Amino acid sequence: MSTETETRAMHDTLLLFGATGDLAQRYLFPSLLRLLADGLLPDDFRVRALALSPHDTAAFHDVLRPRLQQSWPHGRQDDINALLARIDYRSVDLRDADSVAAAVSDLVDRQCVSYLAIPPGLYISTCQGLAKGGALAAPHRLMLEKPIGSDSHSADEILNAIGALIDEDRVFRLDHYLGKAAVQNLLALRFGNTLLEAVWNRNYIESVHILVAESEGVDGRDAYYSRSGALRDMVQSHILQLLCLVAMEPPASLEADRIRDEKVKVLRSLRPLDARNAAQHSIRGRYTAGQIDGQPAQAYQPPEGSEAETFVGVTAHIDNWRWSGVPFHLVTGKRLPERTTKVVVTLKPVTHWLFERPTRQQAAPNRLTFQLQPQENIELGLMSSLAGPEWGALELQPLELELSVPTGLHRRIAYERLFLDAFNGNSALFVRHDEVRAAWAWIDSVCHAWKEAGMTMAPYPAGSWGPREARDFLPDDIHPIHHAGDQA
Ligand code: BG6
Repeated sequence: MSTETETRAMHDTLLLFGATGDLAQRYLFPSLLRLLADGLLPDDFRVRALALSPHDTAAFHDVLRPRLQQSWPHGRQDDINALLARIDYRSVDLRDADSVAAAVSDLVDRQCVSYLAIPPGLYISTCQGLAKGGALAAPHRLMLEKPIGSDSHSADEILNAIGALIDEDRVFRLDHYLGKAAVQNLLALRFGNTLLEAVWNRNYIESVHILVAESEGVDGRDAYYSRSGALRDMVQSHILQLLCLVAMEPPASLEADRIRDEKVKVLRSLRPLDARNAAQHSIRGRYTAGQIDGQPAQAYQPPEGSEAETFVGVTAHIDNWRWSGVPFHLVTGKRLPERTTKVVVTLKPVTHWLFERPTRQQAAPNRLTFQLQPQENIELGLMSSLAGPEWGALELQPLELELSVPTGLHRRIAYERLFLDAFNGNSALFVRHDEVRAAWAWIDSVCHAWKEAGMTMAPYPAGSWGPREARDFLPDDIHPIHHAGDQA
């Protein structure tokens, strides 16, 4: 996915808005540090850090230095100093276009990439300032964090306003899941193997589960989260992107727009959720106090009036030839027992059953599990007679084939890959405007259905696998004793 533009010179100047925020300090600067240490950034690379705080450059370095050290305990001090030497800081008021323009205009004779790690409510005014300062004209580029808006209407407003200021091919909308090697591997596995493609359709696949479980809570992001909730925060972006990679048709090539053309078709084929069966096809929950790994965990208590859920399960249907009738169970939650991201593909039973034991009904279906986080591996569940009596091939037992990726491999932070691709101008791992619109259109249908159906919020104790009804949405291997209300 990275050959398209590798011959072009890399952009060499990053204008990083939201430089004092958690995302920048925890992931963006540490990613730049690793890229610099590995010699992957241009020789004259520099960063302008921008935020509201009235720091000067030296004070900003004092804030950033310990965060960099913490992010890479075995990193070399020289590398940290080398990165800091390339960073200067400007205080800026993002609501004021003149302030933004003044903070960047001295750099526009370089090749700039502006990165907005700020709330989407500030995107338009910041971009107006960038345009005024000359930082959105060609060849400059723009990187935008998710979420783009909070529904179709606000997303349209942002996309249209920014679309009037910069060409689409210079806008790089991030979904950091696309920067993860294990997520990219879904495409490699699907389109690099005859075995998978041969069964990848409604004739052989019974159901698909996509699970993104987190043990972390909302912790410290209350202001954003109380207006967002799991559906908008996780399903609209990461989970729908995973769904696209699992369900898309083979692209004609790995060129960015050929991949994105196929993804957008999947999103447009999603059947809107209907209020009449919202309660059967979805569930929303919020964690109460509980325990994770033996440690007490507090309840999530958003401000009065907040509708934010911390758990969502929703069954999606893709109305097209390949997937007609195949349910895609999408589940995500915070404060679940463990951090795990996986895609589980369950195949249909064989057409005629020959064996004595187990019975046809009791036979485990063939199941392909792509574990994406925290480890990366692939499991294939088959039925075999190897564990049965010596002379009888009539008794089958489940056999798990596990293909583990060799450990010890240095995995890059997702943002490292995404920075390099944006500096090189390769859009394949970024989200196109029509994908954003199509994803929001489906999320809007879920929100409307919930509202119309008066869907209640089901509580679940922190450390459980969500509300009891969540069982219907979770893959079978999630052990039910962890469910709220179950006896241990
Ligand atoms: C972010 C969400 O986009 O992804 C967070 O806003 C979530 O709520 C995070 O915790 C999960 O990312 P990862 O890479 O830790 O799975």
